[in-house]
Amino acid sequence: MAILGVNIDHVATIRQARRTIEPDPVWAAALAELGGADLITVHLREDRRHIQDRDVKLLRDTVQVPLNLEMAAEKSITDIALAIGPPQCTLVPEKREEVTTEGGLDVIGQRDKVRACVDRLLAAGIQVSLFIDPDADQIDASHELGVQAVELHTGCYADAPDAVTRDRELQALVSAGNHAMRQGLILNVGHGLTYRNVGPIAAIRGLHELNIGHTIIARAVLVGMERAVREMKELIVRHASPV
Ligand code: PXP
Repeated sequence: MAILGVNIDHVATIRQARRTIEPDPVWAAALAELGGADLITVHLREDRRHIQDRDVKLLRDTVQVPLNLEMAAEKSITDIALAIGPPQCTLVPEKREEVTTEGGLDVIGQRDKVRACVDRLLAAGIQVSLFIDPDADQIDASHELGVQAVELHTGCYADAPDAVTRDRELQALVSAGNHAMRQGLILNVGHGLTYRNVGPIAAIRGLHELNIGHTIIARAVLVGMERAVREMKELIVRHASPV
C-alpha cells in the first residue's frame, strides 16, 4: 500500500501572513504524525514565502517519520539541503510569480543543472526524487541521472474539467507510472489531490508515495490536523490495490 506524505507548507503560509510565530509547522508535523502521516513534506522555496530554514532544521530533528524536502535544483538550496541532511529530496521547478508549483521539472531541457544538484545529493546518501510530468522521455532522462524515484505530477488529472478528460489523464499517469517502475524507479505522485479525487490515484498498482498538502491543511483548519490526516489515510487504505 502507498504511503502518505503530508505537505505542511500551508501551515507556514498562515504564519507568514502575519510574520508571526504561529501556527508552527513543527507542531503541525507532530499532529500529522499522530493522524498517520508516513512522511512529512516541506518545500523550502527560494523566496521563503512559507517554509523557513529554521522550520526545516527543527523538522529534521523532531519528526519521527522521514522528512522529504522539496527544492529547486539551485546551488544555494542544495547547500542548505546538504547541511540539514533530510533522507529524501524532491527536485521541483520553481518560478517566483507562480501561486504553486506549475508543471513538472524539465529534466531534458535542464539536464546539466539538474545533474549538478542530483550528483551532490546522491553523494551525500540522500534519496532523490524528480517531480516530472507523466511523460516517458522525462522519465527516461530522470533514470539516466541515477535518481531513485520520480514523482508524477497529478495536476492535469486533478484539474480535468470532465470525466472523460480525467480518465484520460489517469491512464496517462498509469502508463507513465508503469514505464517508470519498469526502469526500477520508485513511483511517487502528487499535486492537486483532494479527498474527492484521490481514490483512483491511490489504486495505482505499485505506487509508493502520495504527497498531499492543500486539501489536508484546508480540512485541518476546520476539523483539526490529526483528524484531517487520518481521514486522508483511510481513503488511501480503502482504495489501495492488492499487491
Ligand atoms: N508534490 C509536489 C512536488 C508539490 O510541489 C506539491 C505542492 O507544493 C505537492 C506535491 C502538494 O500539492 P497540493 O498542495 O496541491 O496537495
